Amino acid sequence: MASLIEDIQEILITEDQLKEKVKELGQMITKDYQGKDLVFIGVLKGAVVFMADLSRSIDLPLSVDFMAVSSYGSSTRSSGIVKIIKDHDINIEGKDVLIVEDIIDSGLTLSYLRETLLGRKPKSLRICTLLDKPERRETDVKVDYCGFKIPDKFVVGYGLDFNEKYRNLPFIGVLKPELYK
Ligand code: IMP
Ligand code: MG
Repeated sequence: MASLIEDIQEILITEDQLKEKVKELGQMITKDYQGKDLVFIGVLKGAVVFMADLSRSIDLPLSVDFMAVSSYGSSTRSSGIVKIIKDHDINIEGKDVLIVEDIIDSGLTLSYLRETLLGRKPKSLRICTLLDKPERRETDVKVDYCGFKIPDKFVVGYGLDFNEKYRNLPFIGVLKPELYK
């Protein structure tokens, strides 16, 4: 039987490191959002695994919602043209919104989302991303909470996909380049 792990060149962030970081981020967010009306908006589908774990490491009442966006481009590079496929349901006016993302690459998706959500008058709007590839940034986005800065490599696992696969790997790994080149 073929194993998913055979497609992985290198494990970049282990399951234990992810657990530890999620706990740390959860503690920071719990401290920062005391007495606030926190709404998580997760960006489908990549942020689902991270958001499920992060929300359970937060000791506060919070609401969760999702958005789905598509950024036109190839499966490993985004073009900057972002379209909302699914919008959030909760009215965020006056709420303390935290966008939860799997990874910031060019920054185009998040800067578009940020501008769009700001237009809906939240009381505050911050960004939490599990991964950041700073080398690839094309537009400035302020990240308030970041799990790990990573080098410019295509990664999968813990929610991140390649062609909709590998999201269920419990770690962050680098895919063998021959599989996507
Ligand atoms: P950005 O608009 O270029 O910042 O793109 C962010 C989106 O591209 C993320 O939400 C991911 O869906 C996808 N993405 C960027 N880099 C990777 C990667 O290394 N692995 C999997 N998905 C990625
Ligand atoms: Mg994504």
